[in-house]
Amino acid sequence: MQLTLAFDVYGTLIDTNGVNDLLKQYIADKAEVFMDLWRSKQLEYSFRRGLMKKYKKFSVCTQSALDYSDAYLNTGLTADEKNCLMQKYRALPPFPDATKSLRKLSTSEYRIFAFSNGFGEEVKNLLKNAGIEKHFEGIISVDDIKTFKPNPDAYAYFLNKSCSKSSESWLISGNPFDVIGAGSVGMNSVWIRRSPKQVFDPWEIEPTVTVSCLTDLYDALII
Ligand code: LAC
Repeated sequence: MQLTLAFDVYGTLIDTNGVNDLLKQYIADKAEVFMDLWRSKQLEYSFRRGLMKKYKKFSVCTQSALDYSDAYLNTGLTADEKNCLMQKYRALPPFPDATKSLRKLSTSEYRIFAFSNGFGEEVKNLLKNAGIEKHFEGIISVDDIKTFKPNPDAYAYFLNKSCSKSSESWLISGNPFDVIGAGSVGMNSVWIRRSPKQVFDPWEIEPTVTVSCLTDLYDALII
């Protein structure tokens, strides 16, 4: 039996905190609060657009969330600074453990996909820039069906497109909402809990496996 691995991208392989240094240059000690608000608003906007059936690309959610955070925190970012932040978002760094883990997994029997709320071309560029694109058999984007994870249609689309069965597929994600979304359609899941401070949403679904970094994935999957 060949297992299929579906790697979430933002917050799993790619570090969305990679904007922190640039934010610090612009808004000093508000950077961290800004970064967290930006990310949570970005996700909220994608969820709302999915529910309302008013899909726009994930980068539109990112841009709107940037504008919201700037207005809410009264940080007065200029149009140029916002452009630079958006540009940085398109070339975020990988987590240090992503490359090592993918290299090891790709020598095994797994089928490896990136599965993201991001627009296909943008995800491709992000993975290419991070030097990890070569490890993927394919990039599957929800843009094809104009909705966002955790809509169950998104996971069903992934399974269909990758020709995989849910019981033989693993969603790997640092985002609890994504782990719960995959579990609700019968996929196995790994939650990457990078910090003990992270709390999993109290839900009727839990991750199949929890690890603290991507390099622990290999051993976790062969159990
Ligand atoms: C992704 C982010 C939203 O799907 O987790 O890549």
